[in-house]
Amino acid sequence: MKHFIITFKPDDKQISIHAGATLFEAAGKAGIILNTVCGGKGTCGKCVVKLEPDGQEVLACQYHIQSDLTVTIPGSSRFFEQKILEHGIDTQIDLAATVHKKYLEKGATEKIFGIAVDIGTTTVVAKLINMADGECHATEAALNPQSRYGDDVISRIAYAQTDEKLAELHKAIIDCVNDLTTKLCQKSSINANHIYEICVVGNTTMNHIFLKLPVTQLGQAPYKAFSLDAHDIPAAQLHLEMNPAGNIHTVENIAGFVGSDTIAVALAVDIDSAEETTLIVDIGTNGELVLGTKEKLYAASCAAGPALEGARITCGSRAAEGAIEAVVVNEDDIYLDVIGNCPARSICGSGLIDAVAVMLDLGVIDQTGRFVEPAKLEGKVPPAIFSRIREEHGQPTFVLSENDGASKVFLTQKDIRETQLAKAAIRAGIKLLQKRIGLEDCDIEHILLAGAFGNYIRKESALRIGLLPAVPVEKIRFVGNAAASGARMLLVSRQCRDKARELARKIEYIEIAHEPEFTDVFADSILF
Ligand code: FES
Repeated sequence: MKHFIITFKPDDKQISIHAGATLFEAAGKAGIILNTVCGGKGTCGKCVVKLEPDGQEVLACQYHIQSDLTVTIPGSSRFFEQKILEHGIDTQIDLAATVHKKYLEKGATEKIFGIAVDIGTTTVVAKLINMADGECHATEAALNPQSRYGDDVISRIAYAQTDEKLAELHKAIIDCVNDLTTKLCQKSSINANHIYEICVVGNTTMNHIFLKLPVTQLGQAPYKAFSLDAHDIPAAQLHLEMNPAGNIHTVENIAGFVGSDTIAVALAVDIDSAEETTLIVDIGTNGELVLGTKEKLYAASCAAGPALEGARITCGSRAAEGAIEAVVVNEDDIYLDVIGNCPARSICGSGLIDAVAVMLDLGVIDQTGRFVEPAKLEGKVPPAIFSRIREEHGQPTFVLSENDGASKVFLTQKDIRETQLAKAAIRAGIKLLQKRIGLEDCDIEHILLAGAFGNYIRKESALRIGLLPAVPVEKIRFVGNAAASGARMLLVSRQCRDKARELARKIEYIEIAHEPEFTDVFADSILF
């Protein structure tokens, strides 16, 4: 088959690829990850690249290569290195000496290490742990390279429909874990041979792809997992960089859309001992919820979609440099916090929630999410605020920032609707769990926000837009990347593995979309 040479600017990377491949595939081959909000369907417009020398703009996912090309990739189409939350709650546990002894008996050297890995849909975090004392020696994180096949689990499932494609996704994550291992070893001056165990948590799709288990059934009702069990696999079988005598442990999943990462979070926050009603909210493209006490625990997942991660929002992006991450009202105008202290060029999820809360407070939008007619606001809001209310793309718009017209960041009526849908998915999930247990908002004593996104949002704004149950703000606590913390506990402690098994059995999964009141509760949750 004929091959062509593609040169990517400004990276100056060059690759050879077969005729008919898309520019999207070519970029992936060159190690450049492009935005793939729609999973390459050609509908989101977020993967635009320029063909040189004349700068013609094309969608990388739709452009089929028929000649040698030089292509410029604009910053806005790149899947930027985003803020990755590496650390989480630190929970004390008793080490299970057996893990240490097991390998000492094998005649190993004194250096016995393990790696705890949290495979997120977007990011992968790995921690190098001394198995003798449980201390974390180093942490490394990377974007999940599968992102080039789609932003969310649904697009990954859609891609991995054949053995060949599943193997491709599997190899991408194995290579990623190996890269992280190499970096961890370099940082701590140890050899990969000193790594005897790797413990992996992740959502059920990530877990299955890591193990190369079929994922097709995860994409079709009733969305069953191929395996909910924990697995112990010899090192050599998965080609991971570690001692060949080592073991790879993956943790139990709860259901098709609630995986071992939720078990790890539940373990890290010790929900098993919760005397008072506790709600864990892990906000992501797929939100995961756990609610209850040590007596009884329920879990659900809610398809929030990627809006809160900046996708489907006109000027949205992930939490990357140039993204507005906070919006507050000062005396007569608004004040913005921009990641990297540079001119704003986009808005990320935490900024979006803040902006919507501010627009509600100012009366720019009403409880239904509709823009209020400008005539009704004149004289009621400060002039600087009033001047931000415009029209873009034929829709009412609120302009957050404009830098000499170069890059304007604004929210349109459609953006507000997308935000409402995302928040309604999460809030409806919580409400339906509450109904199932018979709990009012005031019965919830603690809300724990886990995950990268949860850590950066302002609690007041999340309450203002109705994303969370109406509880006093001091009842809300951030627990950081609790999944990675739980993975560390599961790596070093047999008791924690036993507890994980119990939790997987004990947590009752509720398929909220099947609840009779789902439609009504969802519609109600759309209101601010
Ligand atoms: S338009 Fe190309 S990924 Fe969406």
